Parts: sequence; structure tokens; C-alpha cells
Amino acid sequence: MADAFLELENVHCGYGQTSVLHGVTLSVPEGGIVSLLGANGAGKTTTLRAITGGVRWLGDIRFAGRSLRGRHTEDIVGEGIAHVPEGRGILTELTVDENLRLGAHRRKDRDAVRKDYDRVFEYFPVLKERRRLSASTLSGGEQQMLAVARALLMKPRLMLLDEPSLGLAPLVVRSIFEIIRTINQTDHVAVLLVEQNARLALELSTEAYVLEVGRVAVSGKSAELQGQESVRRSYLGY
Ligand SMILES: Nc1ncnc2c1ncn2[C@@H]1O[C@H](COP(=O)(O)OP(=O)(O)O)[C@@H](O)[C@H]1O
Ligand SMILES: [Mg+2]
Repeated sequence: MADAFLELENVHCGYGQTSVLHGVTLSVPEGGIVSLLGANGAGKTTTLRAITGGVRWLGDIRFAGRSLRGRHTEDIVGEGIAHVPEGRGILTELTVDENLRLGAHRRKDRDAVRKDYDRVFEYFPVLKERRRLSASTLSGGEQQMLAVARALLMKPRLMLLDEPSLGLAPLVVRSIFEIIRTINQTDHVAVLLVEQNARLALELSTEAYVLEVGRVAVSGKSAELQGQESVRRSYLGY
């Protein structure tokens, strides 16, 4: 645990009187890809909100060795944590380009930003073609690409992805997951991947946690969880 990049230790949180997470402990190694799986309502999105300061929590959350306790979302994002929220968070009244610019707007390293734009357009050529169009004209898959591209322009050290596969055709999901893998390997961005599509997520990640009503029910190496039929049946639904 000592050299984990992101660490949640016994995290409790909820909304008002309703508690949702009941002592979640998990970690993401530097440069790793970790899946956070579980049924609808298990608390996956809430876990990501806790990390980025969107809900109050008890316990501890540390990033790169420092506690995120009491820190504001802006500040946490500034540390290098980019959150691609559920539903993608694209501003459809803006153009593709304007959405991308929101990703880079806090950065001062203008030359590096330009290089990162080139890189993003290499990953997602369709965004380059459509950069002047309204984001509302993009398909669901393209909007998901835009959300990931915008996060990448924040120059993150860790990306939190909330159900990137939701509502997308299998082939589109595959290509997005391949790009996430490339981003992880080439740009050394660690990934915490929230998914209901356990099968695909386990292929991409090296470790996984399964949440069940706000608690970690199972965790381990992705390859091992894939191989355990009882785990697959009871928790992963395949
Ligand atoms: N803003 C909110 N206010 C109150 N309850 C919420 C809110 N968001 C989520 N919840 C509740 O918290 C629980 C976990 O939700 P969530 O973290 O969204 O789960 P998941 O992402 O795993 O589907 C659910 O019971 C849900 O109804
Ligand atoms: Mg969710």
C-alpha cells in the first residue's frame, strides 16, 4: 500500500442522512489500470465523486502520498486527476474545439498543449474533422471520445472514467478501450475504470474491485477474477 498512487482507506460517505459507501479500501498503482465493478447503485459513481471532492467523506483518500482531505475539486483536478463523469459531461451547446479547450484552459505550458492537441487528434481523428462543429452533432461514441480527449488535455496523472461503454455499440466500445490502453501505456496515465461491463473491463485492467452495496465484495488480479467462475457468476453477471 505504501507506494500506491491513489489510495482509499476505509472511506465512508453518502448523501445527507443516506450512507452509500461503508468503508471502501482500494488502491491504484502508478501507471496502472484498475477496474471498479458492480451492479447499478453499488456506489461506483459515488466513489469517484469522493475522490474528486464532490461528496464529503470519512476515512482517508491519498493521491501521490498526500491526503485529499478538505481539498476542493479544482485543487484536486490541479493535482492531475481528470474525471470523465457518468454521461460524459460534454457541453453540447459548444463546439468540439471549445470543449477541448476547456480541458487545457488552466495550463500555462502552451507548446506542450499544442503537442497534446496533435496527440489527441492522432488518437481521435474524427474529432479533428469535426472540431468546428457543435458537439451536439457527434454520435454517442464520438462524444465519449471527446470526453476522454478533453480529460487528456488536462495532462492528468490519473483518469477516472465512469462507465465509458454505456450506451455504445460493442465495436465502438472496443476502439475506445484500445485507446485507453494506449493512453495508459504511452502517456503513463493511471486509470480507475468504473464499468458495468465487467468482461471488457477485466480485459483492460490488471486489478479489479467489485463493489456490492457500498462495500468491496471481491478484489484481486483481473486475470484471476476472470478465471473464477463463482466470482463471475455471483458478482460479474457473465
Ligand atoms: N445525488 C444523490 N443523492 C442521493 N442519493 C444518491 C445520489 N447519487 C447517488 N445516490 C444513491 O447512492 C447509491 C449509489 O449510487 P451510485 O454511486 O450512483 O452507484 P453506481 O454508480 O454504482 O450505479 C444509490 O442508492 C443511489 O440511489
Ligand atoms: Mg454510476
